[in-house]
Amino acid sequence: MTLVETLQKTDEYKCWLRYERKKDLANIEALKKIVVLEKTEIIKSAVEELKRGILSITGIEPEVIADREGNNSAIVLATVDSSNMTTLNRSLNNDGYMLQSFTKPKERIYLTGKTDKGVLYAAFHFLRILQTNRDYQQLDIIENPKTQLRMINHWDNMDGSIERGYAGHSIFFENNQFILDYGRIKDYARLMASIGINGISINNVNVHKAETNLITKELLPDVAKVANIFRQYGIRLFLSINYASTIEIGGLSTADPLDPQVREWWTKKTAEIYQYIEDFGGFVVKADSEHRPGPFTYNRNHADGANMLGEALLPFDGIVIWRCFVYDCLQDWRDRTTDRAKAAYDHFKPLDGQFLENVILQIKNGPMDFQVREPVSPLFGAMPETNQVLEFQITQEYTGQQKHLCYLIPQWKKVLDFDTYAKGEGSTVKKVVDGTLFHYKYSGISAVTNIGNESSWTGHILAQANLYGYGRLIWNPDLPEATITDEWVTQTFGKHPKILNTVKEMLADSWSIYEKYTAPLGVGWMVNPNHHYGPNVDGYEYSPWGTYHFADWKGIGVNRTKKDGTGYTEQYFPENFDMYESVETCPDELVLFFHHVPYTHVLKSGTTVIQHIYNTHFEGVEDVENLLESWISLNGFVDEKRYNDILQRLTIQLEHSKEWRDIINTYFYRKSGINDELNRVIY
Ligand code: GCU
Repeated sequence: MTLVETLQKTDEYKCWLRYERKKDLANIEALKKIVVLEKTEIIKSAVEELKRGILSITGIEPEVIADREGNNSAIVLATVDSSNMTTLNRSLNNDGYMLQSFTKPKERIYLTGKTDKGVLYAAFHFLRILQTNRDYQQLDIIENPKTQLRMINHWDNMDGSIERGYAGHSIFFENNQFILDYGRIKDYARLMASIGINGISINNVNVHKAETNLITKELLPDVAKVANIFRQYGIRLFLSINYASTIEIGGLSTADPLDPQVREWWTKKTAEIYQYIEDFGGFVVKADSEHRPGPFTYNRNHADGANMLGEALLPFDGIVIWRCFVYDCLQDWRDRTTDRAKAAYDHFKPLDGQFLENVILQIKNGPMDFQVREPVSPLFGAMPETNQVLEFQITQEYTGQQKHLCYLIPQWKKVLDFDTYAKGEGSTVKKVVDGTLFHYKYSGISAVTNIGNESSWTGHILAQANLYGYGRLIWNPDLPEATITDEWVTQTFGKHPKILNTVKEMLADSWSIYEKYTAPLGVGWMVNPNHHYGPNVDGYEYSPWGTYHFADWKGIGVNRTKKDGTGYTEQYFPENFDMYESVETCPDELVLFFHHVPYTHVLKSGTTVIQHIYNTHFEGVEDVENLLESWISLNGFVDEKRYNDILQRLTIQLEHSKEWRDIINTYFYRKSGINDELNRVIY
């Protein structure tokens, strides 16, 4: 048996596609037959998935039969066109589908997609209904994804390492070659398609020499093999490219985007890529940031750089995903008018309207870098003439590195629901990135994945919930957190109410628990430089000048006001500007992000800043103790392997949360000289 075949038998590997046996579904006639009205590669995947799922759930593998007339009870797979249900076209968008069931004269369950992709999504939806014990006999559901581009970004390097990866090595690369473990890549594609992902970039945004070669003749055949697997699951493959490829592999001496030779090189190169991969998605680009090359070297702006690539991709329907994470990492923090938080807006806002129609700007959810708490980036809604995509981070770089439990769905929902006021009240981020606010041609949501080659994919098994939840949430940003969690827990651990209630509660509280014992009130960071794990109050790798938080003996926080700070608040529309500019109206949770205040400043909660720091750090550790106890109460309810694995991680979390508590509390006790009102021991 190969390694993948061994893994395929384990629950941790199957994630939410476990398809647990359900006795009550064993004898349902309609589940014994599948009718297929149109055959494509993607519909073949749908059939395969239904067979696998139903066999596992009922013990009987359905048989594929030809029966247009409806003489048999069956599941019927079709596109709108092949089923002659053309009126449905009006209600479905490209990836949309309908689920309908009839009990008479025969029991028929129709999974009808606008395209074959819709059929595949419908099949996964139907299996989810079976897995979560919902009624499958009265189906009348129309589903359309609200988000057009639903992407995953890998930060995988060709040596097999993963930048900010906490679940082992790459599933694609090892020793500067492709692994081409088709079994594993296929299982990955299945997992991703089951939550609606339709685009995956497979290599790190920091493109080193080895990955620069991905667009050469030597490696494109292997890239194409991965793309072939993805295609069967409705997923387009993207590559991160090195902006200076013309120099690195093209034999030119420049990467100037306005140089005709450079443009020609990219045009030819792009055409060559499409010879290998006809549905290639396009390029992801990190330029002029953290030592990456970019158009600034040639005194050109980011529109010049992005449009050059856009032009090359345009004839093939490809897109450029140009990242807005552009800032000068070596800037001097002592000068309080420079502010990293301002960088993305400052660089990109003035370029609104200058990008080609197939260029999309990818913007991190916050203005800094995936901290446990940040305000929403003011760039959302600020560029009506430019396609925008939101970037989340599923991999837990700053949120416990998959050793700590930190369920990110609540954080992401807050971002998506945030009102930018770009076109008056109701201009939420979700409306910006679903393309409806400004009618973007392209829009969507991306995220840095948390998977690696470990047996559970995500290291911490409960971190699978972040991956699952990401897909479900971006499919429909209005889905309630509780619905997403219920689905995930039931599919992953079964339907026992004790498991459901316990795990659901653990997940729901985990983000705020993590926040309590780490960086307080939106100030961020306080992590060890480089690897970003564990407390280090003054740690910041790029700055020899010390801290981000400007803590001294009197106070703490970054003054980002227009009045006498960095002026960052001005980047927001007036309603949000007003809210953040005044310490009176700024929400507590972000007060140190926007204001420098004395330790004795009284928060809206009624406590002082220093007392808040002490309280939350003590509470955070107590909360982790409770998480651990909750998990222990599930001993016997969850299989031993997964039980022990999670137990071990929670035990580590408890130890490390104590370290955070002690280091943060001591630091601020020494800095401020103010006692804890409750006289607890501060080490
Ligand atoms: C963070 C992260 C880097 C990453 C960068 C990015 O700074 O620590 O590893 O390369 O974000 O998003 O480009």
